[in-house]
Amino acid sequence: ALISLREMLDHAAENHYGVPAFNVNNLEQMRAIMEAADETDSPVIVQASAGARKYAGAPFLRHLILAATEEFPHIPVVMHQDHGTSPAVCQRSIQLGFSSVMMDGSLKDDGKTPSTYEYNVDVTRRTVEMAHACGVSVEGELGCLGSLETGQAGEEDGVGAEGTLSHDQLLTDPDEAAEFVKATHVDALAIACGTSHGAYKFTRPPTGDILAIDRIREIHQRIPNTHLVMHGSSSVPQEWLKVINDNGGEIPETYGVPVEQIQEGIRHGVRKVNIDTDLRLASTGAIRRFLTENPSEFDPRKYFAVATKAMKDICIQRYEAFGAAGQG
Ligand code: G3H
Ligand code: 13P
Ligand code: NA
Ligand code: ZN
Repeated sequence: ALISLREMLDHAAENHYGVPAFNVNNLEQMRAIMEAADETDSPVIVQASAGARKYAGAPFLRHLILAATEEFPHIPVVMHQDHGTSPAVCQRSIQLGFSSVMMDGSLKDDGKTPSTYEYNVDVTRRTVEMAHACGVSVEGELGCLGSLETGQAGEEDGVGAEGTLSHDQLLTDPDEAAEFVKATHVDALAIACGTSHGAYKFTRPPTGDILAIDRIREIHQRIPNTHLVMHGSSSVPQEWLKVINDNGGEIPETYGVPVEQIQEGIRHGVRKVNIDTDLRLASTGAIRRFLTENPSEFDPRKYFAVATKAMKDICIQRYEAFGAAGQG
């Protein structure tokens, strides 16, 4: 059944676990996520980006998610809109039946220029008023996502700041977070704590506190009833990079956020953990390997099946590691 993000994350907070939020663009991702949740008895957050709507079309995405709730009626599902760039975009998703929307007012409506605090409060507050009237939850964002190592916002189009960010912009300020929540009444808040979107987060194997865990703890203490969201949480599995590169791929050396660091974040208040890149890498690796090993095969269902299995394995690992398994 579809439920709101607030309802799901209130349960996660009471029971001290985190929920992975997987991006969804197609049938194979949707099946992988639901089958993994079914096997591990986990709650599900599926999120659709602007890029996903462009790729699949809003009605197809909507029905893909609704089909998941029809086939798996016992699994609680949050249908979330990822990185909305304006109140109008969020309004459209609410009309489509999403149970949660992200208003990312940390960036202007071009999705790449850092905005002012006042702009962020204005668009987020207006979105909350509209969404709450419809029983829909809202995630806001304060701060600019970017690697604490490189100062870079990440590689994806339309979902991050452009250029190099200052250390100050890269960490959400706890006082400002408290003020922001008071002014907007968001249900969840994405914070900048050292992660970035995409596959190129870190150039070296991350050691120690690659994430600003202290900052997460400080923010959580200030806004204990607002659920913290970690974007850019892919771990960039080295084994899948190897499979890709052993089968004709050319992905340079790169590292993601270790699962243990995410677990540490969950212990300090992170409840929603956004993952897209890891499923992209697993499906690409599985398809490359399958086609190398089966050069005469041309039935797409054959290689999509191995891609689904590869993504499902990652989903199972994340549900278990974040403590969501058994909570569905
Ligand atoms: O927030 C970023 C997600 O990975 C979505 O990426 O805009 O390419 O679909 P996308
Ligand atoms: P990754 O690129 O690390 O998977 O992050 C996805 C994300 O934050 C979507 O909003
Ligand atoms: Na941001
Ligand atoms: Zn994101």
